[in-house]
Amino acid sequence: MQSTLHVTIDERGFGVIDFHHVTKRYQGQERSALDDLTLSIQDGDFCVLMGESGAGKTTFLRLLYCAERPTYGRVIFMNQDISTILLREIPAVRRNIGVVFQDFKLINNKTALENVGLVLWVQGQPANMIYEKSLSILQQVGLDSKAHVPCGYLSGGEQQRVAIARALVSKPRLLLCDEPTGNLDAKQASEIVDLLIGANLKGATVILATHDPNLSGAHRKKTINLSKGKLVGSASVDL
Ligand SMILES: Nc1ncnc2c1ncn2[C@@H]1O[C@H](COP(=O)(O)OP(=O)(O)OP(=O)(O)O)[C@@H](O)[C@H]1O
Ligand SMILES: [Mg+2]
Repeated sequence: MQSTLHVTIDERGFGVIDFHHVTKRYQGQERSALDDLTLSIQDGDFCVLMGESGAGKTTFLRLLYCAERPTYGRVIFMNQDISTILLREIPAVRRNIGVVFQDFKLINNKTALENVGLVLWVQGQPANMIYEKSLSILQQVGLDSKAHVPCGYLSGGEQQRVAIARALVSKPRLLLCDEPTGNLDAKQASEIVDLLIGANLKGATVILATHDPNLSGAHRKKTINLSKGKLVGSASVDL
C-alpha cells in the first residue's frame, strides 16, 4: 500500500489532544523537562513518542493523565483544559485513559483476572459483569488460560499482556504506553506492539513512548520527536 508522508505539525487542525505552548519545569531543575511544546494528536492516531533518555517522554504522558500540571501553557484533552482541572474532576478524565508502564505495575499476589477486574470494581460494576468483561479482555490478549494465575507467576510478556488488558477493559478513548516493551525480548515486544495496534484499529488513540526506533514499524501513523524537552520533529503518515 502506498504511503503519503506529510512532515508537519498541526496540519490537520485541532485534535483529541492539543498542547499549546506547554512547558514543564520540575522544582530545582535547571532546564525544563518540556519546553514550549505546541502540537495536536488526532482521534484514532497511533502516535510514537520518541526521544533519548531524559527527553521528556514520561513527563508528556504524565501531563495527559493528570499526574503533573504544566508550568506554563495548556493541555487540552477531549475539549477540556486539563492543565487547570480541579482535583475532583481528575477521575472523570482518567476514565477515558488507559495506562501501560514498562514495569507493569500489577499486584503480584492477585490473579490476572483480579488485576483486570479491579478497574471495573472501582467503577462500581456488578460482580458478574466484572467477571465476564475481565475474562473476555484476557481472551483478547491471549491469556484466558492464565486468568486464575497470580501475576507474580507470569512471564514478563504475559504480565505486560495483563497490564494491557487492564488498561483496555474499560474501553478508554486514549491508551498511554510508557516504554511498554522495555523489559521484554524482541518476540514478546512485537506481540505487545501487535496488541497496541489491535487496540488502535478498534478505535483507541494510542501514544507509545519509546527510545527504540525499530518499534511499531509500518503501522506508525504519527511520530513526535523530543530532545531535551523540545519538539524537534513531527511527521504524520497516512497508511
Ligand atoms: N519528578 C521529577 N522531579 C524532578 N525532575 C524530574 C522529575 N521527573 C523527571 N524529571 C526530569 O525531567 C527530565 C525529563 O524526564 P522524563 O522522565 O520525562 O524523560 P524520559 O524521556 O521519559 O526519559 P527515560 O527515557 O529515561 O524514561 C529529566 O531531566 C528528568 O531528570
Ligand atoms: Mg520515561
